[in-house]
Amino acid sequence: MSVENIRIESLNEHIGVKLTGLDLESVARDPAFIRLVRQLLDEHLLVFIPQQTIEANTAQELTANFGPLLDIKRAGNKAHHVEGAPWIKVISNGLAPDGVPYGDGNSSAQIWHSDSTPWEAPVGHIAFYCRQTVDPVPKTYFKNMIKVYQALPQAVKDKVDELRVIHHFYPRQIEVAIHANGPSMPLEDRKSGFAHPLVRRVVGNNKPVLYLPTRRDSIVQGWSEQDSRALFEELWAFTNQCDFDCAVGLQPDDFVIWDNRATVHARDGWSNDQTRIMWHISSEGEIPTPLRTKRGVNTIGLDRDQAKAATAAIYNDY
Ligand SMILES: [Fe+2]
Repeated sequence: MSVENIRIESLNEHIGVKLTGLDLESVARDPAFIRLVRQLLDEHLLVFIPQQTIEANTAQELTANFGPLLDIKRAGNKAHHVEGAPWIKVISNGLAPDGVPYGDGNSSAQIWHSDSTPWEAPVGHIAFYCRQTVDPVPKTYFKNMIKVYQALPQAVKDKVDELRVIHHFYPRQIEVAIHANGPSMPLEDRKSGFAHPLVRRVVGNNKPVLYLPTRRDSIVQGWSEQDSRALFEELWAFTNQCDFDCAVGLQPDDFVIWDNRATVHARDGWSNDQTRIMWHISSEGEIPTPLRTKRGVNTIGLDRDQAKAATAAIYNDY
């Protein structure tokens, strides 16, 4: 099978492409196919490949092209997941016939978020391979955060371009009910975490992304609690009304891979008396790169004291 026969259709003008006319199991290791997926992800941020029969190892290997695979299964949780496929985390709300959970997760609706932002090098790409769904099929939504940044008024861009945000850890922050009712952590805890640029540019397309923390009570480095919250309420309100989205209702055997660095995703919930089973694979991305990095100075030809004076202004800023 040749990569040239693959049909590529946009899901819409803002995000996502659908590939048809291929057998994913037989092309997944073809360098030309991997180049194509990489190029499509850089440009469209999401690649949807419906109705494929693939091995667990194929799903893992395909995702590993985008970064080292991450084991994100819940620690200490006894669940089946997928034997022999250590990088697949099963997301499911259901129990297998032996009473053991199929995987981690529940049936809650989720708010817009990017995965693992409190990590130093957050997840770069995520793949889903649907194994079982429920009726009606819950949709997963994806939003293009490059376009959201582009749509910001210039005055807002000027305000946020060089800010850094502390991404503190907050358990189950993506669930709708916890987002609505979960109390803030103490301020001291919210000041603890990796400080990521609020505007990052991602390796691949080098375009600026509005990179928001999920929690509106996160802290901007050097800002007060009140000013930080006002900014995140403003930026999330702006983001929510931007319609740069696609919605995918994943059916069994559908495969999708997306760029977690430059998008946010959300999902519908479903009734817990039905079981959905999704294979989930994550690869590590880069440490977020600021839109504008601080440059050093050229110290060639200077003595030690001169070099120290020349660089002080930059390094003292940290
Ligand atoms: Fe997620």
